[in-house]
Amino acid sequence: MKHSEYSAVIVGSGAAGLYAALKIARQSALPDGVLLLTKSKLGESNSKYAQGGIVGVVNQNNIDSTDLHVADTIKAGAELNDVSVVKYISEISDSVINDLIDIGVPFDKDSNGNIKFTLEAAHSVKRILHIGGDATGKGIVDALSKKVREDSNITVVEHSIAVELLTNADSECKGLIIFNELTGEHEIIYTPATILATGGAGQVYKFTTNPDGATGDGIDLAYNAGAIIQDMEFIQFHPTALAISPTNKNRFLISEAVRGEGAKLIDKDGKEFMSNYHDKKELAPRDIVTRAIYNEMQKKHTSNMFLNASIIDKTRLLERFPTISKKCIDNGIDITSSPIPVAPAAHYLMGGVKAAVSGKTSIRGLYAIGEVACTGFHGANRLASNSLLECVACAYELADYLSFANLQTPKKIDTQILKTIETYSSPISDADYDITSLKQELKDIMWNNVGIIRSEEKLLDAQAQIDILHKNFNRTRKCLNTEEYEYRNMLTVAKLITIAALNRKDSIGAHTRFDNIKNINTNKELEYAK
Ligand code: FAD
Ligand code: SIN
Repeated sequence: MKHSEYSAVIVGSGAAGLYAALKIARQSALPDGVLLLTKSKLGESNSKYAQGGIVGVVNQNNIDSTDLHVADTIKAGAELNDVSVVKYISEISDSVINDLIDIGVPFDKDSNGNIKFTLEAAHSVKRILHIGGDATGKGIVDALSKKVREDSNITVVEHSIAVELLTNADSECKGLIIFNELTGEHEIIYTPATILATGGAGQVYKFTTNPDGATGDGIDLAYNAGAIIQDMEFIQFHPTALAISPTNKNRFLISEAVRGEGAKLIDKDGKEFMSNYHDKKELAPRDIVTRAIYNEMQKKHTSNMFLNASIIDKTRLLERFPTISKKCIDNGIDITSSPIPVAPAAHYLMGGVKAAVSGKTSIRGLYAIGEVACTGFHGANRLASNSLLECVACAYELADYLSFANLQTPKKIDTQILKTIETYSSPISDADYDITSLKQELKDIMWNNVGIIRSEEKLLDAQAQIDILHKNFNRTRKCLNTEEYEYRNMLTVAKLITIAALNRKDSIGAHTRFDNIKNINTNKELEYAK
């Protein structure tokens, strides 16, 4: 097998991976350069589709403070957050946002040149920066991708998927195996620093706001290498994804910022319902709004509710949400006059590879940043727009940490690593799997049994069904192509979510157990749960 050496390898080109590549390339002594590996095109990621914005606790005339942001984050996270991590990230947000501005990230400004801030659910004040109104992710990814392409210390390899980590007998990570989709070959990469920035896993659910690539690959890689994985039961379901037909599965997001600007949730008869559930109504924490919509859908036997944005001033609405309004127009909905059909969809993974703010995991030489990581910042439920902040804050800290590390490429390859390499150089059976159908089957199981409202009975049923899918897929590690690798990874992630959901018997944050509802805000949210 072909092999190469790099001082650091970053897997994934969303906000976390792109920013980490730039910072590491600029700050560290890199005898063998940085590799940025990504399984699709550079920048194709969840990050690219982020709408609402990024939290910045920056100096805006003393309106905001890190204390206030920390309190909001911990309240949304049902106090399961790591308080020291929340404080740390909140406090460095100012430096990181200013660094992004220096790099050329074009946050929206008013006519006086001051940055504009918006409000989202469960934030006490307007503290969210945005780009192009509702295209924040694209703005960040485009600006960072441009700089990455220009940096001669960074090698970009697209259409290549990381498929296995190389750990030695001392449980240290010494590199990885990749599958290059263009050549159809497996390759070995040795490095002292393997950085997972592989994002989330929304694709394990039937309905999701996440693009096709969000298959939880980094979780499978780290789990298989023996890293600690935690909090997998905490999946955030966004309340308002565009529900144009009961069968459209990757659902376009209708940003929470639309509710932040005043839009109201209504049923098909035009009746508002959020005041029955929470005094903050549409701006209650996400888990509460999601369960309320779900409950109303069950009660009224419909597959969606509606978001009425037409009450917002027309000029403001179109200026603030150009991407959303265009997407709706393309689907025959004029948001200035018609309500938008919305329903919940899997959106964000709070759990993941246990990592410090610097990305350090339980395995030496392996780092995890962004959505794939679980630093304890989000607790049981993420506060809106805190994710992009975590991506860049942790990339920033990781680059700082690595600037003091020895980034010499490993020279000693032990028998454990040789055995792994052998697995990938040996032939496998050419059994023909219908991966599209298998993925769909898994996504249905997860949506129906491990979704918004859970119970022991349904979780056990899911576990049994996932076990059967596992047994029927005769690829232990090496697969034939990217689709098979993604399905392999989705099976691992589905199994880990289900086990974690079974183990946590209480309802808390985004994890709702119908068979134990004592922490749920109002019993009304579960009236029609089955
Ligand atoms: P991603 O951006 O998902 O990037 C992961 C990268 O890894 C991709 O390039 C992928 O192709 C690559 N990859 C994955 N596996 C492999 C592999 N095995 N080998 C090689 N490459 C691999 N958060 C906010 O804070 N504010 C928002 O406004 C907001 N809006 C959102 C809107 C939508 C529609 C969605 C889906 C999410 C939103 N979020 C938002 C959440 C946020 O966008 C994500 O949590 C964040 O962007 C994750 O960034 P990341 O860099 O960790 O991962
Ligand atoms: C949104 O714009 O509603 C998404 C924000 C987020 O997920 O943080």
